[in-house]
Amino acid sequence: MDKLVIRGGHPLHGTVSTSGAKNAALPILIATLLAPGEHVLDNVPELVDVSLSLSLLGRIGCPSLVLDGDSARVRLDTTRIAFSEAPYDIVRKMRASVLALGPLLARQGRARVSLPGGCAIGVRPVDQHLRGLEALGCHFELSGGYVKGVVEHLRGAEFRFDMPTVTGTENVLMAAVLADGVSVLHNVAKEPEIVDLARFLRSMGARIQGEGSDTITVDGVPALRPSRQPYRIMSDRIEAGTYLVAGAITGGAVTVEHAPVASMGPLLAALAAAGCEISTDGPDADGDATRVHLRRSGRLLPVDIDTAPHPGFPTDMQAQWMALMSLADGTTRIRETIFENRFMHVAELSRLGARIQPDGNQALVQGVPRLEGATVMATDLRASASLVLAGLAAHGTTELLRLYHLDRGYEHLCQKLAVLGADVHRVPDDVRVMPAAAPAPAPAAAADRAAG
Ligand code: EPU
Repeated sequence: MDKLVIRGGHPLHGTVSTSGAKNAALPILIATLLAPGEHVLDNVPELVDVSLSLSLLGRIGCPSLVLDGDSARVRLDTTRIAFSEAPYDIVRKMRASVLALGPLLARQGRARVSLPGGCAIGVRPVDQHLRGLEALGCHFELSGGYVKGVVEHLRGAEFRFDMPTVTGTENVLMAAVLADGVSVLHNVAKEPEIVDLARFLRSMGARIQGEGSDTITVDGVPALRPSRQPYRIMSDRIEAGTYLVAGAITGGAVTVEHAPVASMGPLLAALAAAGCEISTDGPDADGDATRVHLRRSGRLLPVDIDTAPHPGFPTDMQAQWMALMSLADGTTRIRETIFENRFMHVAELSRLGARIQPDGNQALVQGVPRLEGATVMATDLRASASLVLAGLAAHGTTELLRLYHLDRGYEHLCQKLAVLGADVHRVPDDVRVMPAAAPAPAPAAAADRAAG
């Protein structure tokens, strides 16, 4: 296992480019199952979760080829499906594997998918996925930790989600595109990654309207075919946001290229309120600005946030925001409304000198003048990102252990930070770094369970 060694306390300067979005790539890769044939996807990020998705597709019988080069191109052949199953050994590492349920049921009429169970950030049930698919005519049976689904005839239906769920919306949407008749899905999630999935499905011949709003209407078609052009996956708003916070927390000036700014409103507004100068260049062909410049030279001001489904402040930026606010001039209240257990980073940020008091789903962050390097580790992806950010700002050396989670969600993190001038190195765990870091922390519970 490797660790990250960060010698912090220096402002970051420079330009970094945003990669393809993990949370758009995963459903889109799995959605290729809906259309037999050869698919070409561009801007696919090189991440552990993408490799796991390709392994899952391989197990199902669909080989893939990752092509080198700037376009991060993946070719997939979904002509034949040999097994309609997502096995435990993949699902336990990546809960997004549950997205195979909708496409396999739609194409094969049956699916067997291991239940994802809880994870480091919460219980995360999949009842809404199952209820939505039942509305379309699927029947489920739970046994031996697996959910087994069958459907004789997928029929369009009206369904209302109890709460907006991102992967739940994606699963039901992917089945509805091949259902017989019209489906109207109410109270769906509005995340931009769902809009990207709908655009991809449309490129394969699906008839979908309303993505990005509360209600999606799908007019089912008998079959889909692979998109004629390579499909380019949207850029990652959370990765882009994380690099902007890196500029802000170190009091530097960074430019983030290929940022999907239209979907980053709440974060950009919060950064501006915290005292950062922000400007954007554009627009590009989609009418979206793609370069964001951030500079912070003055005080960092406290800005309260409540996480919320899109278009609210994203839960996937909450941990990074907490790291930033730990250096603000005053007290910040952070409320997590999506997941019940997403404050696992509090204890580790405290090891770096942050003063944070969690209380139920809220945390009060009392800004401190400086953080000090220490040895830390995290139990989920965004918590790990928050520790990298805090380490970049902290004086002295921070060692971040258990990089597994970062590899799931941040492409070429070390190289990108180095481009911004950060002193960050990835080394094997047993390499001793001088000056000596703080003593090793106690092992964290639930550390190796998948989130994301
Ligand atoms: N929920 C249910 N029942 C369900 C589905 C969801 O009760 O059937 C609850 C969840 O427990 C949670 C809330 O609904 O309290 C929202 O969860 P959601 O289903 O939207 O989360 P998800 O689809 O499992 C995706 C992202 C997460 C991101 C959340 C929220 C992917 C692969 N994952 O998860 O990304 O935090 O939406 O935006 O798209 C990450 O990238 O680090 C990550 C965790």
